[in-house]
Amino acid sequence: MRIPPLRTPRLTVRELEAGDLAAVEELEGGGRERWLRWTALSYEQLADLRQPPYGERGIVLNDSGRLVGLVGLVPSLAPFGLLPSWPEPGRRLVPEVGLYWSVAPAFRRRGIAAEAAAALIEHALAELGLARVVATTERENLASIGVMRRLGMRVEENPEPEPAWFQVVGILSHDRQG
Ligand SMILES: CC(C)(COP(=O)(O)OP(=O)(O)OC[C@H]1O[C@@H](n2cnc3c(N)ncnc32)[C@H](O)[C@@H]1OP(=O)(O)O)[C@@H](O)C(=O)NCCC(=O)NCCS
Repeated sequence: MRIPPLRTPRLTVRELEAGDLAAVEELEGGGRERWLRWTALSYEQLADLRQPPYGERGIVLNDSGRLVGLVGLVPSLAPFGLLPSWPEPGRRLVPEVGLYWSVAPAFRRRGIAAEAAAALIEHALAELGLARVVATTERENLASIGVMRRLGMRVEENPEPEPAWFQVVGILSHDRQG
């Protein structure tokens, strides 16, 4: 279950490598060397263990080769049963496959996060066979909520304020019915 490079008209979503350190630190802040080494090793290790292909990938511009963002699949363990539409109500934690995205400030508001995430979602639903993907964020993260909406996710609010990262949840099912 290793994800090949995913190409869109403007972008390629590809595995990170050691040479991406400067670009990753520009995006996520300094001190990311160990994280990057771990992430770059994890693609092969997870595949060998037949584990899901979790982990951030780089978003690279096709025309310049510049790495301008990250997008990835992340384990999302949360009380999804608190959401109004979740079929099994309750506050026990449920494991889902989540999405992470970030784009360098100079490249935001150009549809890059949405284009990269759409490619990854397409792969996750069509090739990996996932029933659905989710995304979570705080109420004030309007940019992330904007990406969820652009992707066609059903966007729901947790009626409870905690945990903060689970205040707003986007859900997209393989049948696109939310
Ligand atoms: C969230 C983030 C990745 C969005 O990246 P982006 O490439 O600018 O997003 P897109 O251009 O694809 O925007 C998708 C939609 O969100 C909207 N949007 C983007 N930024 C927005 C903002 N600051 N306020 C309101 N809406 C916003 C866009 O207008 C677009 O909506 P549209 O389809 O109606 O035009 C970027 O702002 C970021 O890196 N933020 C910091 C990291 C972060 O918070 N990651 C999420 C962790 S939960």
